Amino acid sequence: MPNSAAFPSRPSQVPAPSPQAAGASAQTRPSQSVDPHAEMQAMKVHLRHLQSLASLGELTGTATHEFNNVLMTVINYAKLGLRNQDAASRDKALTKILEASERAATITNTILAQARNRSDTQEPTDLVALVRDTLVLMQREMQKYRIGVELDLADNLPMISASGNQIQRLLLNLMTNARQAMGEGGTLLIRVAAATPASPSQVELTIRDTGGGIPDDVLPRIFDPFFSTKSGPDESGKGGTGLGLAACKEIIDEHGGRVRVESSVGRGTAFVIRLPVAAAEQAAA
Ligand SMILES: Nc1ncnc2c1ncn2[C@@H]1O[C@H](COP(=O)(O)OP(=O)(O)OP(=O)(O)O)[C@@H](O)[C@H]1O
Ligand SMILES: [Mg+2]
Repeated sequence: MPNSAAFPSRPSQVPAPSPQAAGASAQTRPSQSVDPHAEMQAMKVHLRHLQSLASLGELTGTATHEFNNVLMTVINYAKLGLRNQDAASRDKALTKILEASERAATITNTILAQARNRSDTQEPTDLVALVRDTLVLMQREMQKYRIGVELDLADNLPMISASGNQIQRLLLNLMTNARQAMGEGGTLLIRVAAATPASPSQVELTIRDTGGGIPDDVLPRIFDPFFSTKSGPDESGKGGTGLGLAACKEIIDEHGGRVRVESSVGRGTAFVIRLPVAAAEQAAA
């Protein structure tokens, strides 16, 4: 039943998945003389790899789709130019082909720059720029599901100390969950602001959706590895493994950050994440 309280109604500090909880799947296996810590580490490495592949898949998917559009334009105007041999038609066709090709070059440059600029080590990183880059990857999916994206991105924020790759994975996971929670239609709000205006030692990222919300009995489990309420991947091939938020939590922990979830059934959910500002920026403040 929808919670009638104003959203956000139920802030809660969600604890990190404990090693016990994370190793819950081990309970279903016959006990072997495997070091649970080593096994956990191996799973984390594997998870990281899967996440990189997912992120790469997003990049490739977007590039392919955009390229297809550009190619269609090139093909259609080439046909037009061949059919109509008068100078005016050929000029028009060639101009359109040139414009489309230039757009294709812009797309490749953006995608290649994104792929190159992502580090796995933590360094001063512009979170707002990362949000904008990540939105380029999610734009098509949001349009497909008629989800409006509202941005509230503060100017002149200090850099955070972060791995661009990992924070992008975090953003992709949270945006995908938000999209899936909303189904068709809805609003995704992304806000980046100084956590405390007076001493911005942390930057706050909020990803809020107008989806179905998370029931009380589900909320404590959402960061557990393999916990999912989805029956499997949706028609976009996403969701259902239950590793997305476990990875997010791990990334936040590795960055020395905190996450809080505010959710109201029938109204929506917000993930509020605080990430530390890069040391050099703090010293300069
Ligand atoms: N924005 C949200 N709104 C409502 N429920 C959510 C939201 N984000 C996460 N959840 C709940 O938390 C569960 C765990 O999320 P998580 O991303 O870890 O797994 P998943 O989305 O089910 O699968 P995948 O690992 O493939 O992303 C989801 O199955 C869903 O029940
Ligand atoms: Mg997910």
